[in-house]
Amino acid sequence: MRKELVMRWITLSLVLCFSLACVPPPAGPGAGAGARRISLPFDWEFRGLEPIGTGTQGMVATTDARATRVGLDVLQAGGNAVDAAIAVGFALAVVLPSAGNLGGGGFAVIRMADGEMAALDYREMAPLLAIPERYLDTEGVPTNASRVGHLASGVPGSVAGLAELHRRFGTVPWEDLLAPAIDLAENGFTVNERLSRGLAARASILTQFETTRQIFYPGGEAPRIGSVLRQPQLAATLGLIASQGKDAFYRGPIADLIVEEMQKGDGLITHEDLSRYRAKWRDPIVFEYRGHTVISMPPPSSGGVTLAEILNILEAYNLRSLGFNEAESLHLIVESFRRAFADRNYYLGDPDFVEMPIARLISDEYAAELRTSISRTRASDSESFNRVPVLSEGTNTTHYSIVDAQGNAVAVTTTINSSYGSGVVVERAGFFLNNELDDFTIRAGYPNQYGLVQSEANLIGPGRRPLSAMTPTIVVDPQGVLRIVVGSPGGPRIITAVAQAIINVIDYGMDVRTAVDAPRVHHQLLPDEIYVEKNGLEARVRGILSTYGHEINQTTHYFGDVQLIVRAPDGTLYGASDPRQEGGRALGY
Ligand code: DON
Repeated sequence: MRKELVMRWITLSLVLCFSLACVPPPAGPGAGAGARRISLPFDWEFRGLEPIGTGTQGMVATTDARATRVGLDVLQAGGNAVDAAIAVGFALAVVLPSAGNLGGGGFAVIRMADGEMAALDYREMAPLLAIPERYLDTEGVPTNASRVGHLASGVPGSVAGLAELHRRFGTVPWEDLLAPAIDLAENGFTVNERLSRGLAARASILTQFETTRQIFYPGGEAPRIGSVLRQPQLAATLGLIASQGKDAFYRGPIADLIVEEMQKGDGLITHEDLSRYRAKWRDPIVFEYRGHTVISMPPPSSGGVTLAEILNILEAYNLRSLGFNEAESLHLIVESFRRAFADRNYYLGDPDFVEMPIARLISDEYAAELRTSISRTRASDSESFNRVPVLSEGTNTTHYSIVDAQGNAVAVTTTINSSYGSGVVVERAGFFLNNELDDFTIRAGYPNQYGLVQSEANLIGPGRRPLSAMTPTIVVDPQGVLRIVVGSPGGPRIITAVAQAIINVIDYGMDVRTAVDAPRVHHQLLPDEIYVEKNGLEARVRGILSTYGHEINQTTHYFGDVQLIVRAPDGTLYGASDPRQEGGRALGY
């Protein structure tokens, strides 16, 4: 827990305890007879203490207040939501080296005010030389090579993605959108606790790499809180991208530096891989939930399909009358997670390589079929759904949400996978490379670092894009007006965090702050257990869930870093950045 938050909690808790512990549900869908009061647990850390953003024109919610400010400046100067998203993407590459990136990839879901929808895939691509054998030991067991070091990286997609967003929707000159990031890299920014502690925690891995050590461990230590971190190499790289566009990265001087870096550690990315890389427009996953239209990311992200299965199953139940964080509602939510993850892990992969029954998976008929196997009081057995035999037992990403004065909305989730990706910083280019290849199935049946047991549909192979869980999502109300922009990091927990944020707003009628703060649970089929946030669930509720037959994994941490924007019926925009991570902020105007 952040120190500052502890202090505020101590000083304010007495005053706020009674007013915030029980949040009366405002009128909304599902309200009415049978609706119970929505109470957050008394010992819950996140009780509406962080500021929200409000505005009537535009809203930016990101995990770093400096990046939020960059986005807001673009909006206030007349740029649209996509322009702001591009500027925020580059700013996060500077101030959030754990996740913001040039060396990773991402997905953007867009809904323009005129109703046009778009989904951009700029996921990393496996190099042409990436075959499973390189990531297996002599016994055929996956090694660490997909997680740490040069072999772990896919061809980065972020620069191509941001350039493609600009080509199709941008209105502000490209260089202007990079200028704030260049300034932050050149002149530096103040190191916060999150960055200092994050680097210290990963030191044993990151200091193995010379360039990483030089830039991020000055004097051999993680930079101190309050010190200024300047990144001149990164500033130069951003300058090249500003003046030469994406070709600087994929064909020009930055490509040369990436390929040189690869040679230091048996990495696989070649000039050919870089010059072949393309960001791709995909058809978004679109489905209805309680009269709302949900727009989310299709494969190679599993986010949209899995979210659709979850919400389609849940649509038949009155979650609100069953209560928030009560065993009866959580049981149904968990059962929907279990079934959706079974299909995710079995069917989904890169659409350019595998056939997937997506229309069926996201259909109401299929959800109805899945519901027939759900008992109201008995946990299902994950084994009966799992189609990927388990052969072995077994942060970082960031999301931002933006709405502009015209009502255009953009949801972007971007990642280098683990915190600080592969650990490798490209020499003289100053940015971390991803370890996204670990999102592939290296060998069917072996869990990846998130414990996901996935099928051959997601097998690593030349030119493929690894299956993701990133779920940038936009929700439009029954009148066709923008309602929600949302997303989160958290590996597989992304999908369940996004589902719960949407349920919190639509089913439980929570305000933006409560919807983000509220405790979360997670289930991903395997391991067959409900992950519960620290102090997130009363013992009474855990007890009932156990009697239903659920295994409860009471963790000691928190899940996700949700960036949520909700538009009220009167047009006011409300934004909330997740208090689970230090430094986030939603700002509107
Ligand atoms: O694409 C994915 O699903 C993962 N690489 C996301 C990783 C992540 O969210 C880590 N953050 N905590």
